Formats: sequence, structure tokens, C-alpha cells
Amino acid sequence: MTRREGWHGWDTYAAFYDWENARTLGRRDVPFWRRTLTGEGARTLELGCGTGRLLVPMARAGVSMVGLDRSAEMLARARTRARRLPRAARPALVRGDIRTLPFPDRSFGAVMAPYGMFQSLVRESDLAMLLADAHRVLRRRGLFGIDLVPDLPKWREYHEQVSMRGRGPRGGELTLVESVRQDQRRRLTIFDETFVERIGRSTTRHTFSLTFRTLTVPEVVERLAAAGFAVEQLIGDYRGGAWTDDADVWVVLARKR
Ligand SMILES: C[S@@+](CC[C@H](N)C(=O)[O-])C[C@H]1O[C@@H](n2cnc3c(N)ncnc32)[C@H](O)[C@@H]1O
Repeated sequence: MTRREGWHGWDTYAAFYDWENARTLGRRDVPFWRRTLTGEGARTLELGCGTGRLLVPMARAGVSMVGLDRSAEMLARARTRARRLPRAARPALVRGDIRTLPFPDRSFGAVMAPYGMFQSLVRESDLAMLLADAHRVLRRRGLFGIDLVPDLPKWREYHEQVSMRGRGPRGGELTLVESVRQDQRRRLTIFDETFVERIGRSTTRHTFSLTFRTLTVPEVVERLAAAGFAVEQLIGDYRGGAWTDDADVWVVLARKR
């Protein structure tokens, strides 16, 4: 069996990501990141920029953005979305892996890891690689912003349930059939997904798995400190309120020491 990796599955998911996201997180985190990044006024790297859901609004707000992603299919959608902006405001898009950042030392004033990006690193060694490289590409006192999806380890397990249905992004009817598994020993939450697309008389099934590994906020703080970051703020809602144990948003803002 192939080793489970956090970057697996996203190419197949790409055609459905915005459709599903519009029914879940949507744009709830956009004003928070816009406030935080326009305040920094720095060249900013988004790790795992995906379809440009955050990248493009940040660039539109005047932040000089670079988006990095390993999935060519996700990046293709970000490229289409970026074309809505005037040429001079468009973000740079780079294909690569967040564990080995293809950028020179001290080339960014801010790095953001939004919407569970850390959780795509399924081993402790992957996280250590990213932390070392984020530290390297940030200039001194540069901001590192991390947003974790808090409830993943608490998702109940289920098998092949219809979790969403509606008009699909290419017309016709789209149904998401989903299974959830928890691997508590390795701290993994695994989603086995099938998008069933019915257009006219034809039915196509798009099947893939996504894997996430969740650390607690205190564990993330500890890893950041060990990698040379000073944690500045723990945030528990997108209005900027303080983090608590039962907060439904887990944002950590840290600076390179
Ligand atoms: C949850 S999506 C987030 C997309 C975007 N940041 C947003 O908030 O909508 C995670 C993205 O990370 C990318 N990704 C996962 N593992 C990666 C890795 N090791 N290197 C680069 N990109 C990765 C996936 O391709 C996917 O586009």
C-alpha cells in the first residue's frame, strides 16, 4: 500500500473544493486574514493556497501575495480566479511542497498556514521540516500565522453517508458520499470521499482520500518555540477574541525571533 500523505487526494478534490467549501467555512476567515495581513504590509507567502479562496482576496486588498501548492489542479483554479484582478495586483503562484520551500532566505515578511494547512503534515518529521523552512524564509520579526481546524479528532466515525447534495459546479446533480475514520495512535483523521456527478444520463464517480493530523494548540505553541518563534497571540474566533480550550477557532500568531 502507498504511504498515506497529506498532499494526496487534492488533485481529484480540486473540481469540487469550492462547491463544498461554500457550504462549510465559506468566507468566514477572510476578513480576519485581511486585517492581519494588511496590518503587516509585508510580502506574504500562503502555504497550500489551493484554489485561491484566500490568496485572491488578500491580493485584492493590496497584500503582495505568493501562493504555494503541490496540486496542479488546485493551482489551475487559483490562476483562473487571479485573472479577475488587474495584472499588477495578481498573486504569484508556485507549484511546490511546503516541506521544502523553493524561496531564498528571509524573502517574506509574513507566512500564513490557513485552514488546517498544518494538519496536512501527517508526521512529526514533516512538521519539523516546515517549521525550519518557514523560519528560514521569514525575515527577522516576520509573522507566522497558523489556523487549525479544531474539531477533526472529534469527528464521529461513519461509513458511506451522503453528507451533501445539490446542483453541481458543472451543472447536473452532485452528491458527496463520505466515510470518516480516526487513527488515534497516529492522530490521523481520514476522509474517504466519493463525489457522484450526474449530468444528463451520465454518472461519474470521483473517489479520493484526504488525511489530516491534529496537534493541540499547546503542542503547536511548543513546536513553534522549539523552532525559533515567539508566540504572540492565541485567537479563538475570527473577530480576534482570545483562545480557550473549547474555542471553535484555533489561530496562533507567532514571530520569528
Ligand atoms: C484545505 S486546502 C486549503 C486551501 C486554501 N488555503 C484555502 O484556505 O481555501 C489545503 C491545500 O494544501 C495543499 N497541500 C497539502 N499538502 C501539501 C504539501 N505537502 N505541499 C504543498 N501543498 C500541499 C493541497 O493541495 C490543498 O490545495
